[in-house]
Amino acid sequence: MKIILITGVSRGIGKALAQRFLENGDFVIGTSTSGNIAWKNKNLKVFQLDLSKPNNIENCANEIKKFNRKIDIIVNNAGIAVEDEVNELTINIKYLRETLEVNLIGTINFTERIIPLMNLGGHIINISSRAGSLEHVDYTLNYPSYRISKTAINMVTRILAVRLKEKIKVSSIHPGWVKTDMGGDDASMEPKEAAEDIFKLANSDVESGQFWFKGEKFPW
Ligand SMILES: NC(=O)c1ccc[n+]([C@@H]2O[C@H](COP(=O)([O-])OP(=O)(O)OC[C@H]3O[C@@H](n4cnc5c(N)ncnc54)[C@H](OP(=O)(O)O)[C@@H]3O)[C@@H](O)[C@H]2O)c1
Repeated sequence: MKIILITGVSRGIGKALAQRFLENGDFVIGTSTSGNIAWKNKNLKVFQLDLSKPNNIENCANEIKKFNRKIDIIVNNAGIAVEDEVNELTINIKYLRETLEVNLIGTINFTERIIPLMNLGGHIINISSRAGSLEHVDYTLNYPSYRISKTAINMVTRILAVRLKEKIKVSSIHPGWVKTDMGGDDASMEPKEAAEDIFKLANSDVESGQFWFKGEKFPW
């Protein structure tokens, strides 16, 4: 039984992923912004985490430390997209700060506090996005703050992969366009399909410091 920490298990991809690990017989430590979620499992423990609040991140990491289980895999799944999608090319500073605080700074702060609680041979998975790929800038560049946050989290993957070489693997993954509150009803994938790809990545012996989509390397 592995111990898996997943941020944002209340809904969407994080919920489907938590359920996939639980089906596999793993133990999941999850988070939600309220600390409550609408589903249960005997092998799931949920903590309250708001990545926009540094004190809250510190408290949550301390509570997880007190829980006293060495973590094998952390999936940084929680994220926000606050911009209007429709042709929004202007980088609005308020939205940029809000987005970076959660998707980048809060995620880094939380991860750094969890790394000392991880087993050697563990895996850090950052849920990134094609929207953050510098190669894929040839179509409408809507929601720019969200894109910037995902490009930056990819650099975090590279930096941590170098620092944690031969100790802990670090990966970025694009989950696909997924039917969730963020992805919307027109998205092409179900949360379960995206969760399956992330689950496979988590359990495979991949090269550290790479960006993945459906089991293949994805352009940065
Ligand atoms: N859906 C897509 O098409 C798509 C595509 C590419 C990448 N992604 C990425 O995949 C990840 C999951 O997305 P999703 O589509 O499943 O999103 P979602 O359905 O909107 O769920 C977002 C999750 O993040 C949590 N969260 C939101 N704000 C938070 C905060 N300030 N602190 C801590 N947790 C917070 C939410 O918790 P509460 O319920 O408590 O608010 C929820 O569990 C994100 O990183 C997203 O950028 C999604």
